[in-house]
Amino acid sequence: MKQITDRDIAALLNPRPVALITCCDEQGKPNVLTVTWTMPVSHRPPMIAISVGTRRYSHQLIQATGEFVVNIVGQNFQSAIEICGNSSGAVCDKFLRAGLHTVNSRTMRPPRIAGALGYLECCVASSQEVGDHTLFVATVEVAEASEKAFTGVWETYAGDVLLCRQRELFGMCHPSEESLEQRRRAQNFGQRVD
Ligand SMILES: Cc1cc2nc3c(=O)[nH]c(=O)nc-3n(C[C@H](O)[C@H](O)[C@H](O)COP(=O)(O)O)c2cc1C
Repeated sequence: MKQITDRDIAALLNPRPVALITCCDEQGKPNVLTVTWTMPVSHRPPMIAISVGTRRYSHQLIQATGEFVVNIVGQNFQSAIEICGNSSGAVCDKFLRAGLHTVNSRTMRPPRIAGALGYLECCVASSQEVGDHTLFVATVEVAEASEKAFTGVWETYAGDVLLCRQRELFGMCHPSEESLEQRRRAQNFGQRVD
């Protein structure tokens, strides 16, 4: 075994979906940032948590308004993910820079990203400082997903959900050709593969 240190420790828990989080300031001006530190935390009521660096501009906004939207996106958003994860809304308009279009959310002011595969509109219920990040625990007010892309699982589909392996390394969540072949072989031999 080798010792894992620093930022690589978080990467041990990858891959995980990468999302675009939209939020807005108290005047309603929106911002968007890339986030991979998301997790479900309760079924009833449905709640999730996201971890946002305390120095991010979005941190200020989410803390002030208590609202954000998790936009789950496909591989066609990779360049937007990179742009929104490497520039700050404090100094530029990332929607413009990344070529992102927005549509109104159902229940809150932060907009949705047009063309995303799924949306979770979230209201912050509590927050906790954890080292250099804040964990925002939020109630999911509305959750919607593309019928074609999500059938209880994310389907193999042209707009596959983008996964983050390391900060600048991405992948898809559909099974690899190799694992499909493994399943076919196992099924031929009548073995359980799950
Ligand atoms: C792939 C990727 C994943 C990221 N995940 C997170 C995350 O989970 N939490 C976080 O606070 N920042 C994360 N970031 C960094 C922010 O997206 C980045 O600091 C962004 O510029 C903040 O924008 P803002 O200043 O407009 O809020 C990630 C960046 C990338 C490229």
